Amino acid sequence: MGVATREIRETPYLRGDPVFGSARAFRDDPLGFIESARREHGDFVRIRLGPYRVYLLLGPEHVEYLLQKNPGNYLKDGYEHNEPLTGRGLLTSEGDFWRRQRRLAQPAFHKERLRGMVGTMTDATEEMLERWRGHLGRGGERPLEIDAEMSRLTLSIVSRTLMGADVSGEASEVGRSLEHTLGYAFRRTGRFFNLPFGFPAPKNLRYMRAIRTLDTLVYSLIDERRGSGEDGGDLLSMLVRARYSETGEGMSRKQLRDEVMTFLVAGYETTARALAWAFYLLDQNPEEGRSLREELARVLGGRTPTYEDLPRLVYTRMFVQESMRLYPPVWGLARRAKGEDEIRGHRIPGGSRLIISSYVTHRHPAFWENPEKFDPERFTPERSGGRPRYAYFPFGGGPRQCIGVNFATMEATLITAMVAQRFGLSLVPGHPVEPQANITLKPRHGLPMVARDVVAG
Ligand code: HEM
Repeated sequence: MGVATREIRETPYLRGDPVFGSARAFRDDPLGFIESARREHGDFVRIRLGPYRVYLLLGPEHVEYLLQKNPGNYLKDGYEHNEPLTGRGLLTSEGDFWRRQRRLAQPAFHKERLRGMVGTMTDATEEMLERWRGHLGRGGERPLEIDAEMSRLTLSIVSRTLMGADVSGEASEVGRSLEHTLGYAFRRTGRFFNLPFGFPAPKNLRYMRAIRTLDTLVYSLIDERRGSGEDGGDLLSMLVRARYSETGEGMSRKQLRDEVMTFLVAGYETTARALAWAFYLLDQNPEEGRSLREELARVLGGRTPTYEDLPRLVYTRMFVQESMRLYPPVWGLARRAKGEDEIRGHRIPGGSRLIISSYVTHRHPAFWENPEKFDPERFTPERSGGRPRYAYFPFGGGPRQCIGVNFATMEATLITAMVAQRFGLSLVPGHPVEPQANITLKPRHGLPMVARDVVAG
C-alpha cells in the first residue's frame, strides 16, 4: 500500500452521539447534514451511522476515484432493501454477471434506437397537453399536481418505448404499487433493524401485495412477447431474444422479470422528478424562462420537436442540466469497500461504507460560482471548460453510469420544450417548496401549479 512512503492524512471525524453516531441527524435531514459536514470539516469526512463506519466523499476528485478510477473495489450499497422488487437486475447486480447483462441491454439505447423513440415520447406528451387543455376548457383554475403529472407521463413513456405497452392508465395500479414499494424500501434503509420481508407483519404484507400486482403485469408482458416470438424492436424483445454466448440459452423468466422491473423502477420517477423541478425553476426564473421560450419560438415555432431539432435546442438542454444541478433526482449514492484502499491520502478500511452526494457536490462553492443561483449558461462549452468532470454527476459515472442517460436527457429536453411552448405553469401562491431526500429528490409538499395556455391566451 506504500504506507511507509506516502503521506496518510488524518480524516476529520464527526463523532456524533455515543450510541447512534450521526444516524439521527442523517435520517432527519440527510442533505442538510451532509452539507454542514462539508462546510465544517471539508470534502472528506468520517462519520458513524449506528454500527457503521461511513465516509462522506464530497469533492469531485474523490467522486471520480470511487466511480471511475477504482470502482472494482466497491460494491453497491443500500440496494438490498429493494431486493424483492428488482432482484438481480442491472441496477443491483455485480461483477461478471452484471457485465454480461449490461452488454445485452446496451444496444437498446444506441442512437438509432433512440431516434425511433422520439415519436412515442412526443405523442405521449401531446396526449398529456390535450388533457390539460380539456382541464382549462372546463374552467380549470384547479391547479395541476405537476409532480404526479410528470410521473404518469414518464411511466407511460418508459413502458411504451421499452416494453411496447402503456402501463400508466388512471385505472392502473402500477404507478401506485411502484411508489409504495419504493417508499417502503427507502424507509427500511433508514433503520438498523428490519423484519425480514417474509415476516407476516401488516406492512410487509401490503408490500408483498404491491409486488404481486407488479409481477402479474411484468410476467404477462414477458409471456406475451415470448409466446408471439415477435420482435418489437424494443428493450423487451432484445432481452427475450438474447442468448448467452457460453451456453446458447436465453435468460430465465425470473431474470427477465428482474430486468424489466428494474427498468420500470429506474426509468420513470427519476425523469419525472427532473421535469417537475425544471418547471418549478421555470416559474421562479422569468428571465431564463424568456431565453428558453425565445429558443423554442426560433427553432420550433410551435411545431412538435423531432430528433433532428435536438442539437438545436441548446438552451433547452442547458436548462434541464442546470435544473438537475440544483435538484438532482438521485441525490446520493452509497458504496461498500471490499478491501482496504487509500483515496487521496485517506485510508479506507475494508468493509467501510462510502456516500457521495450530487446534491452537495453540485453546490460546492469551489467549483460553482454563486451556487444557489439558477443559471443554465454555466453549461456553455466555454464556462464548463475548466470544471472537473465530477463536479456534476446526476447520472453517476464510470462503468455503472446510468444506462438511460441519453434516453432521459432526450426525453426531458423534448418534454420541457413541448410544455414550455404551450403552457405557463405558476406555483400556487404561498405554497411551500422544499426538497425532500426520499429515494429520489422530491418536492416535500408536492408542486401544485396553475396552467395557462400561452398560445390560446
Ligand atoms: C433524469 C433521469 C435519470 C437519472 C437522474 C438517473 C440516475 C441514475 C444514476 C445516478 C445511476 C447510477 C446508480 C449507481 O451508480 O449506484 C443510474 C443507474 C441506472 N439507471 Fe438511471 N437515471 C435516470 C433515468 C433513467 C432511465 C430513463 C432509465 C431507463 C430507461 C434508467 C435506467 C438505469 C439503470 C438500468 C441503471 C443501472 C445501470 C448499471 O448499473 O449498469 N435511468 N441512474
